[in-house]
Amino acid sequence: MIPFSIKVFIYKLFQLALKWSTKLLTFRTPELFSGAGSSLQLCEHIATRTDVKSLLIVTDAMLVKIGLLNPMLDKLKSLGISTVIYDGVLPNPTIEQIETGLTMLKSAGCTAILAIGGGSSIDAAKVIAARARNPHKIVHMAGLMRVFFKPMPLYAVPTTAGTGSEVTIAAVVSDPSTTRKFAIMDPKLVPIGAALDGALMAGLPPHITSATGMDALTHAVEAYISRNHTPMTDAEALEATRLIMQNLPAAVATGSNIEARQNMAVASFKAGVAFTTAGVGYVHAIAHNFGAYYHLPHGLANAIILPYVLDFSKPDCAERLAKLAEVSGLKQGGESDAVLADRFIAHIRKLNAEFGIPTQVDKLKASDIPAITDKALAEAHWTYAVPRYMDKAECEAFVAQMLPKAA
Ligand SMILES: NC(=O)c1ccc[n+]([C@@H]2O[C@H](COP(=O)([O-])OP(=O)(O)OC[C@H]3O[C@@H](n4cnc5c(N)ncnc54)[C@H](O)[C@@H]3O)[C@@H](O)[C@H]2O)c1
Ligand SMILES: [Fe+2]
Repeated sequence: MIPFSIKVFIYKLFQLALKWSTKLLTFRTPELFSGAGSSLQLCEHIATRTDVKSLLIVTDAMLVKIGLLNPMLDKLKSLGISTVIYDGVLPNPTIEQIETGLTMLKSAGCTAILAIGGGSSIDAAKVIAARARNPHKIVHMAGLMRVFFKPMPLYAVPTTAGTGSEVTIAAVVSDPSTTRKFAIMDPKLVPIGAALDGALMAGLPPHITSATGMDALTHAVEAYISRNHTPMTDAEALEATRLIMQNLPAAVATGSNIEARQNMAVASFKAGVAFTTAGVGYVHAIAHNFGAYYHLPHGLANAIILPYVLDFSKPDCAERLAKLAEVSGLKQGGESDAVLADRFIAHIRKLNAEFGIPTQVDKLKASDIPAITDKALAEAHWTYAVPRYMDKAECEAFVAQMLPKAA
């Protein structure tokens, strides 16, 4: 048996190699439109492309029902672009939902895709775009750089401020047949154009606003404490954290506060830029499993897990947590890093409590913990440069902290 300290040394070497190899890559960002009405500007931009005559709109049924798409559909029609709507995406999208969208794309002969929705719709659209030009199965795209051919042109309009999927290299897919949620990570998945239109988020209910906002915060925090951070990711992660701390409570309290919504949309994008290069960490590795096992919404899972992971990681990143406390407006002056780190974690717990986010996972079963930790550690150790490592026994005890409390 290889001692855990040797394994950690190997993981760190692997992550260092990854950091250096990503320096050779340039991560494209989408052509960006931002502000009120920017979703319509994106439609005009799409119409300037001569190769786009028919668009597959990938979205979820709820957004069609509330009429959120109508202004964009009317605009596209007026510009001579025909649209076909695939609204079969559900939260935590599955392989089957993506394949159904692909079939629709092929039968309608669409030449480009516009995702309108939360991370679920954008991720599903990314994989439909990849599958349209790649013959291999979706499961074979899991992991890093497994999309071989350039996907079909893809545009994205996020309607939640959380995942940052409109700028990231990732798409997260659920495979119910193996109770697995896996990430496909490839720079080719980044959409070619995106619009950050905070006004589209005005009707997002408070519980989805808070959970998705905590997802964006988790991206910023995990990227900032990652050992693969860079000066660029630090700047984006700190600015995202500052914006989220200043605007998330207002967006949750008053959904129609468009300034807070727009700032959250920008923060989510910036957090996405940061984690595309620096990666995330244990919060996401465990949250993906809570999504796969118990269908927990992604942001909610992250919000619950984040303070626990920060408590565990603190010995190896107190200085960085102290900086996050500072940009969150929690520093009075003269406090030690340890005090500020604790204050930052306590502030996240306070925000969770204000938003009605629980501290435990009601559906978590003790008998699932060994399998959940195996999958979470396999994901984390070969993908994320976490500041402090946990072995299997530590991870099992760690996850057990979130078991429902005995009545
Ligand atoms: N690709 C990435 O980089 C990345 C990063 C983090 C998470 N994810 C993935 O994204 C998914 C989660 O996405 P999400 O958190 O944005 O939620 P979501 O897309 O699953 O949407 C959640 C709910 O919000 C509703 N909704 C969305 N926008 C709305 C609006 N404007 N008004 C009213 N209702 C609205 C939807 O109908 C849905 O019921 C997960 O699968 C997660 O793993 C991807
Ligand atoms: Fe996330």
